[in-house]
Amino acid sequence: MKKILFAASEGNPFIKTGGLADVVGALPKYLDSRKFDVRIILPKYMCISWQETQKLSHVTEFYADMPRGKEYIGIDKVKVDGITYYFLDNEHYFAGDSPYNQIFQDVNKFAFFSRAVLACLPRIKFCPDIIHCHDWQAALVPVFLKEFYGNDNYYRKIKTILTIHNQKFQGRWRIDDIENCRDLPADCRYKAMEAYHETNFLKAGILYADRVTTVSETYAQEIQSLAGGEGLDGVMRQASGKLSGIVNGIDNEDYDPMTDEMLSAPFGIKSIAGKKKNKKSLQRELGLKQDGSAMLIGVVSRLTEQKGFALVNEIMEEMLNTMNVQVAILGTGEDRFQDSFRYFGWKYAGRVSATIGYREELAHKIYGGADAFLMPSQFEPCGLSQLISMRYGTVPIVRETGGLKDTVEAYNEIWQTGTGFSFANYDASEMLMIIRYAYEVFTSHPKEWRMMMKRCMKADHSWQCSAGKYEELYRELLG
Ligand code: ADP
Ligand code: GLC
Repeated sequence: MKKILFAASEGNPFIKTGGLADVVGALPKYLDSRKFDVRIILPKYMCISWQETQKLSHVTEFYADMPRGKEYIGIDKVKVDGITYYFLDNEHYFAGDSPYNQIFQDVNKFAFFSRAVLACLPRIKFCPDIIHCHDWQAALVPVFLKEFYGNDNYYRKIKTILTIHNQKFQGRWRIDDIENCRDLPADCRYKAMEAYHETNFLKAGILYADRVTTVSETYAQEIQSLAGGEGLDGVMRQASGKLSGIVNGIDNEDYDPMTDEMLSAPFGIKSIAGKKKNKKSLQRELGLKQDGSAMLIGVVSRLTEQKGFALVNEIMEEMLNTMNVQVAILGTGEDRFQDSFRYFGWKYAGRVSATIGYREELAHKIYGGADAFLMPSQFEPCGLSQLISMRYGTVPIVRETGGLKDTVEAYNEIWQTGTGFSFANYDASEMLMIIRYAYEVFTSHPKEWRMMMKRCMKADHSWQCSAGKYEELYRELLG
């Protein structure tokens, strides 16, 4: 039995700001439990809900040597669906009303987290064969492991994998300001960890980890290019021998239109008519006109530049004035997008609804009730929303980038194949053209549209396949 420890900054069902939490919460369940004992370690943020923290039991506590002196580390744990979650407690670092606060605090906080993960292993009596680290927040685990524990018998055999969920976020700050990195050798701090005169956690992780993965094959290529590398393309090319892309999946049990209790009516491939009821009640709930013939476009997203909302803003008026479409937006993020969507919601009341906030239940209702799902990302490492929408027979309209390119097959009207609509260039008029095409198929070729909905629902994007690829990687790494 091989032991794997996931180290991450978020994970379902405890703390989530985006797809990382979905991956961390779902993937371990799909790894073969006869061969792998997979556990997860997360920070015990004070913003984790009271209901969730009530379920935790206390394991132990100790004081570890850190640059500031002795620091408290508490460890709690809980088992969910057979998977053990550990929580690292320190109220100094993990306070605040969200997992991420100011970047200058965050870099120090996650340097502490990475050190604490390693320090606690003998205390939890779990010496993993592999620590599977996620994103920049856990990227220093391989660094501290090699620099501080390289010669320690207990730690010597531990291998590390770093999975990059988003290369844009790197954990950058002024080198000398990060207290919890102060005792790393100067050679490491000013060379491996340095990029563009700042410290760069992701870069260091890439160089120190035994293997690096990212969440789709196309993104694995893109991050090695000048356009997609976010300044680290050279480092990625240097690391290309140990880099691979494994596309994310979704938890088919969490997202199942036949059993989803948040929907107003269940539906499946054989009872696709049930989707109409969901559309109706979604329109009612959001104050949209009860119009079955309008193409209802859903958006559930972080409202950021990455997700392509600059394009959406550009074409919104023209789209609404030339087609019978409705738009249901759910998201939080940058003010400029929140404000513009609120404005459209006001100006086109009854046709546009903008819910600014994070709402799990409404998200399910949009996936279940919309006809199409818009995701015109500027870049997208993988994207889970398009996978969820397909599972609910909601046809995705995406830009061909990263995981969107790898998971959505463009509609071909001659062969009647495809699971969505896609456009290549990051260009508003190209996007509008493809929305028009989708609208034409939706309004003039309902039978073909229905067939596409069914293809979407049939396409298997569950974790089953990708989990096998991670297992292969673990096996290969452990020799
Ligand atoms: P990213 O991780 O870049 O935000 P993904 O598509 O990988 O994008 O994952 C986003 C996840 O977060 C999906 O599960 C999506 O449904 C969910 N989500 C995003 N915004 C919201 C929101 N405002 N309310 C509820 N769920 C949301
Ligand atoms: C990141 C990416 C998203 C990906 C998710 C989970 O948030 O932006 O594309 O699906 O991580 O890997």
